[in-house]
Amino acid sequence: MFQQLKQLSPDTILGVMAKFRADPAASKVDLGVGVYRDLSGNTPVLASVRRAEQEILAAQTTKSYVAAAGREEFNSAVEELVLGTAHAARRDLRARTLQTPGGCGALRVGAELIRASSPGVTVHISDPTWGNHTPLLGSSGLRLERYPYYDAAAHRLRFDAMLEHLERAAQGDVVLIHACCHNPTGADLDPAQWRALAQLLQRRRLFPFLDMAYQGFAVDLDADAAGVRFVTELMPEALVASSFSKNLGLYRERVGALIAIGENRDRADAVMSHMLQIARSIYSMPPDHGAAIAARIFADPTLKQEWLLELAAMRTRIGDMRGLLSRHLREVIGDGTFDFIGTQHGMFSLLGVSPETVARLRDQHHIHMTPDSRMNLAGIMPHNAAYVAESIAGTLSAA
Ligand code: LMR
Repeated sequence: MFQQLKQLSPDTILGVMAKFRADPAASKVDLGVGVYRDLSGNTPVLASVRRAEQEILAAQTTKSYVAAAGREEFNSAVEELVLGTAHAARRDLRARTLQTPGGCGALRVGAELIRASSPGVTVHISDPTWGNHTPLLGSSGLRLERYPYYDAAAHRLRFDAMLEHLERAAQGDVVLIHACCHNPTGADLDPAQWRALAQLLQRRRLFPFLDMAYQGFAVDLDADAAGVRFVTELMPEALVASSFSKNLGLYRERVGALIAIGENRDRADAVMSHMLQIARSIYSMPPDHGAAIAARIFADPTLKQEWLLELAAMRTRIGDMRGLLSRHLREVIGDGTFDFIGTQHGMFSLLGVSPETVARLRDQHHIHMTPDSRMNLAGIMPHNAAYVAESIAGTLSAA
């Protein structure tokens, strides 16, 4: 059976994780996988999560299945969090939400849904994009194409080139858009760019598939959803994948949701029936524990307030580290080449150096990042920022 299978190389991001773990150096710095780290380098269980979890465990009477769509109260709270309280699709009952195993589950169900409904379409993904977008969407059999998004050497968006590419996309094609905190670049669209993009999608009849894995990591929950809300108000149909790995720190619990917006209630019901069937054919029913925690936090004003403060603290710490690293880089390099790190959003920025330079940073300085030079800024601490900046400057000047 398995004789034809050749050994595969590990997934890039997971490979960096493994190399970091295997590095024995005490000075090693993890700028690899996208997890939040506190000042001690830990990825903590949030206090709000711990309290919600304790309450759930104390009250739980069964481990029986919840429902194929997941928890109703989770799904409706996610819709409100993502779309806001006044969204037309919610008012007109045109939004349907499926609880999924993480944002990955949402992306995969979304891809299968698109293939079932329109097998010939192309999905346009940003260049660059998160490494797992390609296998998650591509393994459904959909054709993928890349639209220009970011110039890593010049450290800026390629917005005009992005629009030019999308002008040429075929009617009905899908555009995968990072809602905020673009992974891997940290470079987001501003409100005017969101407007221009939404108008293009509408005029060219393209289908928006929005991926929101970092809601609350840029400015706050509402501001970070502004682009999603703008696009989904304008367009008759859309998909939104949402993840609570990062903003609730529920990484291993796999908590996510797929929101589908249909043209009308009947269409939305039909779409939901397909989402349920697709989910059933892949994983049957979603895991419950993480979604139960999230739902409790969203529903309880005290827990929610506690979570919002913890989310703000994570966001502020990463923002502070962005500022600190870019100031150190300015000092050692003598110019503002890397000032962009201080103004971008979310966990990541692209240093914009070659894979060889990344390998030298790892082998000579024990600084680990993905080969495309994506840095997770949550791995920067007050005690290692100067060391990272000096190592980058030293490696660049030796190249
Ligand atoms: C990342 O981008 O590093 C995270 O989203 C983790 C992952 O699964 O790739």
